[in-house]
Amino acid sequence: MHEFKFRRNQLYCENLKIEDIAHKFGSPLYIYSYRTLLNHYLKLKRAFGSINPLICFSIKANSNLTILKSLVREGAGLDVVSGGELFRALKVGCPRDKIVYASVGKTTHEIEAAIKTEILFLNVESLPELKHINHIAKSINKRVRVTIRMNPDITPATHKFITTGKITNKFGVDFATAYNILKHRHNFAYVDILGLHIHIGSQITESLPFIRAIARVVEFLQQLKNEGIKLEYLNIGGGLGIIYDKEKPQTAVNFAKQILPILKKIGLKIILEPGRFIVGSAGILVVKVLYIKKTAKKQFIVVDGAMNDLIRPALYDAYHKILPLRRKTARGRTQYDVVGPICESADFFAQARVMPKVEQGDLLAIMGCGAYGFSMSSNYNSRLRAAEVIVVKDKVYLIRKRESYQDLIQNELTLKL
Ligand code: LLP
Repeated sequence: MHEFKFRRNQLYCENLKIEDIAHKFGSPLYIYSYRTLLNHYLKLKRAFGSINPLICFSIKANSNLTILKSLVREGAGLDVVSGGELFRALKVGCPRDKIVYASVGKTTHEIEAAIKTEILFLNVESLPELKHINHIAKSINKRVRVTIRMNPDITPATHKFITTGKITNKFGVDFATAYNILKHRHNFAYVDILGLHIHIGSQITESLPFIRAIARVVEFLQQLKNEGIKLEYLNIGGGLGIIYDKEKPQTAVNFAKQILPILKKIGLKIILEPGRFIVGSAGILVVKVLYIKKTAKKQFIVVDGAMNDLIRPALYDAYHKILPLRRKTARGRTQYDVVGPICESADFFAQARVMPKVEQGDLLAIMGCGAYGFSMSSNYNSRLRAAEVIVVKDKVYLIRKRESYQDLIQNELTLKL
């Protein structure tokens, strides 16, 4: 599954002892495994090999330039959601016809940049947005290619903050609206509507919601075809779940096996935009135990990483495995809350977690942090963002410097008012 494994009771990333990496780069530290990253991309690529889809890695999951570059070099496209992500995509040399852009709130400036760049698709999320895109395209006299993001009204079993395909969510348009848009597509003279897009949510561990959503869209496509509206592309989004705890998510092969027959029948060019599946298991966050604090009711492990480094537990009550880098069987187990130094009670990585006893100075690996880890980090409490490194076999490379106090204030002005 991934390349973080124990050897002689020490946790390794590929061929390097993680303790050595942490001593060299300090903590908190994000460590990625190159092999795990590529393997997951290739798993998906091979599983869908028979239809040769365009796989656009979703930058929001992990926007580090080296990560992006590694995937682009393997042939991946990129899924962007802002001008900043588009900037990153171009920076790593992603071919512009492999970039897709979704967001319910693209600004004029962002739309203009995307049109000028001639990306593959803007995924349109509302009628007012479509009108605006047409207006901008006209004003710069350039045609633009779009897909319509559908809201198929599907509720997958995942955290309520990360479902995106329910009709009460802000994303996409309902079938009636999409139908009206397509019926009157000649009203948008500068826009070529070439396909449909869906993305129903994230960390979805079963295939059924995907199948249901695709089936609804396929039915719609058939209806359109009957009326002479032919489309060329279907973007089935991302959302594939991974193992954090005891989940049993569909494998790439199983997922493909179930949906390929439907996709083959419609014969459109397919786009996928996974984030977590590709990078989630490829990264960990290493933190150091500052103190063991015992209170009347609890034992806290206070570490040097915090919710500004990894916000998933605070935001979604997300579970991440926590492993001491050294396995000491003689120590026994006990129940802890693993917390950071930030002034919020939501600043925890685990609550009431039974785990091997740890001591001050120990290093801990928080697993499954490759996706939505560093990319959601912040400077809250004026904490410096962690460094990021990547391991390739027996070598480790720094791919983002640890921030300095100077970085913290570089855009601020000290005015005497
Ligand atoms: N495409 C679109 C349009 C998206 O909105 C997303 C994620 C993806 C693709 C990639 O989804 P993935 O394959 O990674 O599930 N911060 C949350 C996850 C938010 C996902 C937002 N959209 C978390 O930490 O669980």
